[in-house]
Amino acid sequence: MDRQNVVLIKEGPIATIKMNRPDALNALNLQTLAELSDVIDELEKDGFVKCAILTGEGKAFIAGADIKQMSGMDPMDAKKFARMGHAVLDSMESSKVVYIAAVNGFALGGGCEIMMACDIAIASNKAKIGQPEINLGIHPGFGGTQRLPRLIGRMRAKELLLTGDNITADEAYRLGLVNRVTEPDALLPAAREIAGKIASKSAVQISFIKTMVNKGADIDLMSAKELEISYFIASFSTEDRSEGMKAFIEKRRPDFKDR
Ligand code: CAA
Repeated sequence: MDRQNVVLIKEGPIATIKMNRPDALNALNLQTLAELSDVIDELEKDGFVKCAILTGEGKAFIAGADIKQMSGMDPMDAKKFARMGHAVLDSMESSKVVYIAAVNGFALGGGCEIMMACDIAIASNKAKIGQPEINLGIHPGFGGTQRLPRLIGRMRAKELLLTGDNITADEAYRLGLVNRVTEPDALLPAAREIAGKIASKSAVQISFIKTMVNKGADIDLMSAKELEISYFIASFSTEDRSEGMKAFIEKRRPDFKDR
């Protein structure tokens, strides 16, 4: 696919995905969403990349779905668009790759929803975050009504969804919506530092932990604990657990397999 609105840079086990439609504040039209989907597929097949940092060019991370394109959609188009958005975000969540949102500016509507589908979010103190869809006579269509309450609680989520207010990065941090807030210049270095740390770990465990946390959150506690036990058992037949424990005993750094 010829990508114009999404740039992918791979540096060893760490990739950077840059949303690159700054004139429209990186708004998600069908083309941009398809390009993002293509990038996610490429990373999934890559087999070497462990972490992907997602950020935006210009003053926005992603200012949401493309309102100009949506204004011409009928209900059937809306169905396709919502299904496509959900599929892209679900593929990030179920991916073996750890997605780190480096929120450089506006993360609104679909942008906030993409941030919430990431595993970790870091925000610049210039970022503005929110679900303003209600101001357009719609509601979030890429999972916002479901991921937001799961992350910050139902009452706080309903306040954001019902008022459509945008919040600052500090407020998002207070609500537990982002992991940390940095000065704008420190955003990408901070994201790279976390990515580097994670990329030095076992790829098998990265994917096990993502699966347990994400799947476990949507099932009952007993079943979720069983899930953990089954992955714990599976861990004991991996080369990485032999290497990790051997390295501890030999007082050296573990050398985990790439994949
Ligand atoms: N869709 C299409 N174009 C957008 C856009 C969007 N979501 N957000 C910004 N743009 C465009 C503007 O129309 C403008 O284009 P022109 O120069 O051609 O007029 C350009 O980007 C720059 O934007 P502004 O001039 O508005 O910039 P600003 O700094 O004055 O304001 C802003 C920034 C507060 C983010 C404002 O642009 C804004 O409110 N954007 C819309 C945010 C929004 O409502 N997002 C939710 C979309 S719905 C959704 O996402 C549904 C879903 O769940 C899937």
